[in-house]
Amino acid sequence: MTNQLRTFIAIEIPPAIQEKLVTIVREAHLTPENGFRPVRGGMIHITLKFLGDTDSTLLPRIGEILAAIAKSYPPFDVQVKGLGAFSSWDRPRTVWAGLAYPKALPALAAQIDEQCARFKFARETRPFSPHLTLVRVSENASREKTAACLQPLRQNALLDFGNLTVSKITFFRSTLQAGGSIYTPIATYPLSQGKV
Ligand code: 2AM
Repeated sequence: MTNQLRTFIAIEIPPAIQEKLVTIVREAHLTPENGFRPVRGGMIHITLKFLGDTDSTLLPRIGEILAAIAKSYPPFDVQVKGLGAFSSWDRPRTVWAGLAYPKALPALAAQIDEQCARFKFARETRPFSPHLTLVRVSENASREKTAACLQPLRQNALLDFGNLTVSKITFFRSTLQAGGSIYTPIATYPLSQGKV
């Protein structure tokens, strides 16, 4: 029997920015008691492609593709900026930090999406909307309570959390757990175009 893992491809976020984002979550009391499921400390990331159930025998071949794609991009900078909610602040399912980014970011995601289709992973149908999920709103959360907690965050569309240089992509395994999924790196691939 083959082994299935839940996987995705993402960009990691440096500790200093993670810390600022976690502070916002903590100061706004976005806790399980108040109806939120925060992303675990240190595990906030930019998803490039969610693969979901992945046959473990495919991992080396997916790795080869990711290595080749990563090698064709030079490192680039993104700014972590602003807070928002999907689908809206009035109907929040997740709260995220936004990004200001160059065209390389959606190009990278599109190329990964296209190449992973070779292994029968479904193509993305929605436009790529890069973000950093900070918390998820629990299904049974009290709307009044979550709205009250989120109220102070609604005015922060321009808040600057700092810049990062994207110099690698990471293939992650996701393990579903009460208290927040655990994301474990399987492998990383440097963005090394132009480097010798
Ligand atoms: P999100 O941050 O926008 O929720 C690991 O689960 C990552 O894959 C998450 O960051 C999540 O994005 C993303 N993802 C995309 N589609 C998903 C899906 N159908 N189920 C779970 N995670 C998904």
